[in-house]
Amino acid sequence: MYSLIRPWLFKLDAEKAHNLTLTSLEKAHRLGLLPDSPVTSPVTLMGLDFPNRVGLAAGLDKNADCLDALGALGFGFVEVGTVTPLAQAGNPQPRLFRLPEREAIINRMGFNNKGVDHLVEQVKRATFDGVIGINIGKNLTTPVEKAVDDYLACLRKVHGVAHYVTVNLSSPNTPGLRNLQFGEMLDNLLSALKEESALLDRERDTPLPLVVKIAPDLSDEEIGLIATSLHNNGIDAVIATNTSLDRSAIQGVPHCDEAGGVSGKPCAAPSNRVIARLRAELPEMPIIGVGGILHAQDAVEKRALGADLVQLYSGLVYRGPALIKQCARLLA
Ligand code: FNR
Repeated sequence: MYSLIRPWLFKLDAEKAHNLTLTSLEKAHRLGLLPDSPVTSPVTLMGLDFPNRVGLAAGLDKNADCLDALGALGFGFVEVGTVTPLAQAGNPQPRLFRLPEREAIINRMGFNNKGVDHLVEQVKRATFDGVIGINIGKNLTTPVEKAVDDYLACLRKVHGVAHYVTVNLSSPNTPGLRNLQFGEMLDNLLSALKEESALLDRERDTPLPLVVKIAPDLSDEEIGLIATSLHNNGIDAVIATNTSLDRSAIQGVPHCDEAGGVSGKPCAAPSNRVIARLRAELPEMPIIGVGGILHAQDAVEKRALGADLVQLYSGLVYRGPALIKQCARLLA
């Protein structure tokens, strides 16, 4: 079915196609046309029961406006966001590009979203019975030195609504954000978030696992230092990885020089390298592997390298929703 729709969607501007797809999915869901029969192969991680190991990666449903429709495609978990304390427009369009010759995408969306209050209301209304993650970030206008205030503001709002929260330190499209992955900045941020979440956990009698999402463009030494900080700060899981700044695999194809992060097939090798390093450094910590899953076999590869769960984004654009169940079945 998707192979019939795809050529038509690919004729449209990428962001228009994205918006149209989400609106159509939402309508199809309301009419009861989506399958809603996930592959069931339950796994418990971070104290949460995942119906299967395949999730939607952050960024596709930034405002949780289509959570139930996306959930009905068979995901075991859906991560919404990145959301920021205040609504913001993101970068000027065009800011999303397909590179079909490489099965890749470049995006420089810049956290366009309707703000955390809107997202929280949408999640409260959702009926999806898988796991819901909320991915949080900082507003563009907040200086990086004050980023902790934005993350704390989001954490307070999503606590009690999310099953887990992801601290996004790895978008390449918010200047300076990736610096939060290093040294004192990382330790200060994670310890502040951990302290606040422990307080909220006690107050509300609900534990909220804290997850950190990192970039693929890191040296082995940097991955080692991040792993130590995640461990020391009692972080519950790590997502590897966000989009990459490495252009070596997309040279010479249309749009290859657009600014932004590369996802899809070229992101698989850098993401896999990070997963393997993290697993060596953190034998016990749950790892969510994401980056370049275009076939179910790619998900199996991530699992073999140490990922406990996987997430999809670009694979959905190139292969359609059938990929979700194909992955879930092979990982069962
Ligand atoms: C993303 N991604 C992303 N990640 C995140 O943590 N917050 C976000 O807001 C976004 N936004 C976003 C927009 C677009 C258009 C894309 C393509 C990607 C990154 C995404 O979650 C994932 O980590 C990477 O895309 C790698 O996975 P795939 O796409 O290769 O499966």
